[in-house]
Parts: sequence; structure tokens; C-alpha cells
Amino acid sequence: MAAQVSLALLLVAALALLLWLSCAAAEDAASGGARAAARHRAKAERHLKRLNKPAVKTIVSPDGDIIDCVHVSHQPAFDHPFLKNHTIQKRPTFYPEGIASKVESHKNSPSITQPWHQNGKCPEDTIPIRRTKAEDLLRASSAKKYGRKKHRSMAKPLSIDPDLLNESGHQHAIAYVEGERYYGAKATINVWKPKIQQSSEFSLSQLWILGGSFGEDLNSIEAGWQVSPDLYGDNNTRLFTYWTSDAYQATGCYNLLCSGFVQISNEIAMGASIYPLSYYGGSQYDISILVWKDPQEGHWWIQFGNDFVLGYWPAFLFNYLAESSSMIQWGGEVVNSQLEGEHTSTEMGSGHFPEEGFGKASYFRNIQIVDGSNNLRAPMEVGTFTERPSCYDVQNGNNEDWGHYFYYGGPGRSNNCP
Ligand SMILES: *[C@@H]1O[C@H](CO)[C@@H](O)[C@H](O)[C@H]1NC(C)=O
Ligand SMILES: *[C@@H]1O[C@H](CO)[C@@H](O)[C@H](O)[C@H]1NC(C)=O
Ligand SMILES: *[C@@H]1O[C@H](CO)[C@@H](O)[C@H](O)[C@H]1NC(C)=O
Repeated sequence: MAAQVSLALLLVAALALLLWLSCAAAEDAASGGARAAARHRAKAERHLKRLNKPAVKTIVSPDGDIIDCVHVSHQPAFDHPFLKNHTIQKRPTFYPEGIASKVESHKNSPSITQPWHQNGKCPEDTIPIRRTKAEDLLRASSAKKYGRKKHRSMAKPLSIDPDLLNESGHQHAIAYVEGERYYGAKATINVWKPKIQQSSEFSLSQLWILGGSFGEDLNSIEAGWQVSPDLYGDNNTRLFTYWTSDAYQATGCYNLLCSGFVQISNEIAMGASIYPLSYYGGSQYDISILVWKDPQEGHWWIQFGNDFVLGYWPAFLFNYLAESSSMIQWGGEVVNSQLEGEHTSTEMGSGHFPEEGFGKASYFRNIQIVDGSNNLRAPMEVGTFTERPSCYDVQNGNNEDWGHYFYYGGPGRSNNCP
């Protein structure tokens, strides 16, 4: 009986879809622009099918996200030709030496969590994946471009090409180290909800593990939090990862929006919201992110907080990073899409300048690198960089409690940033 009812419902739904499609088709016939829109929609449908894998269980998050629990061996990574015969690593073979003890690092910061946890858990041997919706793809200029970075967006602290930097509209306030071989990086990042002026802009706070030159073949692994209305359809603060092996051109993407990253955690969904958020003049919250290269297998692992190993980027996705990283960056990045006229009022960090200090300005603390002996240690000769300090600034420091730290961010448009 139940089966008959659901079959009938399915038929009704199919008929409704057909009707909708034929109406849509009739309308589209009106103009070439509309036909292009229909093609865009059809491509989006096909792309959705590739992105959203069959779920063992589905959890609806209070923030509107749909979280699919997908069997680990059905995750997007295995669409990658190099991963066809890959055996999933259940855990890293090595951790960096010198990770602070749990007791110490839990001292003053309650754990950050994800809202979908309120409504369920993903079973063992599955991973939580934020489902991509049709409207997500329709916001992108093309379905294929969804989840990719639109521009070259890398700050280049040394031998900067100012025209190129200013042209791309991406602005940074960062700390960085270079000149050695790095095998990982760690930071504790203060979490905020910066205001975004236009939906095509974003504001993020992250670490970058970079390899190669800033030419066509830059390798990059990135992780942190971001607010990106075009990517997610809202202004929520979300945990994210990103990778590319060709300077943001053909390879790589955010989260699991392409094949490559192998997730093992059944508790953390990349691209899902995180809370609680810091409050100006009030409670402060931060997240810890550690990325390190397994000295045995060569994969780049990522850990969120003290408890969650999310997964890894297999070494063979990269050329330079297959060996080591040549530069680490930590900090904020925003897009200023107003290339002519007024500067955007999109905020970075808390939207306040570093001078305001703790509780008001956003910070990174305990920034560390992993060296060639697999030791987590303080970075040496930390540089800072920002394109326009009157819009977004950065100030670093060093003390016993916070190790190497910096405050960064700003409000964007103001009298001093017209
Ligand atoms: C996967 O394994 C099969 C059978 O052993 C082999 O023929 C194929 O070349 C392998 N593919 C890759 C990408 O290693
Ligand atoms: C970018 O452009 C602004 C305004 O035109 C200028 O003040 C600033 O110095 C430029 N930044 C760099 C890094 O050249
Ligand atoms: C995001 O915030 C902006 C203002 O900062 C607002 O105009 C916009 O409607 C918000 N978008 C969503 C999807 O809530």
C-alpha cells in the first residue's frame, strides 16, 4: 500500500516536472537569452548529479543546509582518475611532534560546533557532505565554475606586481614566512561574521600552504572560515577548505566540490556553518586548524580543533607540494568588486582595525609551522603584508600566552579608504 502511494506521488511529481519543463521551454523560446538560461539549467542538473552522491542518511540542518551522509568509498574523491585504485588511509601514520596537550588548549575556549549536529549524526563509514542545490549552481556564471575561485587571488608579498594585485580586486592582510621548506602549519583563528556588501564578494580568514612560484603552476592548500553569499546562498560563517595545483585555473575547488580531497571524518562537514561567533566587546571564539604532510605517505592531512581529523589531499594531486611547501601565509582576504569608484564596505575579520585589540579586532594566535623534522614550532622572521592598510591592516606580535600572533582586518570603505 505504502509503495503504491509513493509510486503515485512519484508520478505526480514527474508530471509536474514535465509540465514545468515544457512551460519553461515555451517561455525560453521567446528569446535567445532565455534559451541560454535553459541550457544553463540543464547543465546545472547534470552537474548536480555528479556532485551529490547517493546518501545513506540525510540530515536537515536548522540553518537550511541539507547534509548527506555518503559512504566513504562513494565520496567525490573517487571520481578522480588517479584515485581509482586508492585505498583510503583511515588515519595519518604520523602527527607532528609538539602538539599542545588537549587540557592546555581547551583552557579558555569552548568548542565550536556545526548547527546540523542538533538534528543527527552520520553513521560510521559515512562522511557528511553539504548538498549542493540547484539554486547554488544557478548563482554561478556556469555550473562548471561553481566552487572554483574566479580570479587569481594570491597576495605576493615579495616582488609584488601592484597593478595585477589591485586589478584583481582581492585584498589581503596577512602574515607570512618563506625561505625554508615547510611541511605544515597551524593556527588558532578568531571567528566572526563580517558583513558582505555584494553577493559576489567574500570575506575569509585562513591559512595558505603554498608551493612553487606565483606563475601558472602555483600549488595551494587553504583552510579556514569564510562568508561567501554566492557560494552558499547566505551570510553564514562557514568552515572551508580549498586546493589548486595550477594557480586557480583548471584544478581544485572549495570543500568537496570536485574530486581530490579524501574525507575520513563523519563529524565535520566542510562548507557547513560553524558557531558560536565572536561578539564585539564580548565573548571571543576561535578554531584551530592544523595542516601537515605525512612524512611516510606524503599526503597533506588536515585537523580541525583537537579532535577532528577531517581527511587528506593525496600527494599526487600536486607537483611542488608533493615535496614540501615554500611559503606559508595566514590572514584575511576580501574581494573588492568596486574596481572603479567607491571601495567596498565588505568587512575583513571583525570589521575593526588591529589597533582595537582583543575582544574587538580579529586575531590569529599560536601560528606555527611544521619543519623538516616533523616538529611543530614557532615561525622565524614573520613578515606582514597588506595592499591598502587604510582599508584592512595587520599588526603582529609575540608573547608567552599566544606565541606568534597578529591582529588583522578592517571595515573596508571609510573616509580613509574612499
Ligand atoms: C587500477 O588497477 C587496475 C587493475 O590492477 C589497473 O589495470 C589500472 O591500471 C589501475 N589504475 C590506476 C589509475 O592505477
Ligand atoms: C592599489 O591602489 C590604491 C588606490 O589606487 C593605491 O593607493 C595602493 O597603493 C595600490 N596598492 C598597491 C599594492 O600598489
Ligand atoms: C547578506 O547580507 C546583506 C547585507 O550585508 C544583505 O543585503 C543580504 O540580503 C544578505 N543575504 C542573505 C542571503 O541573507
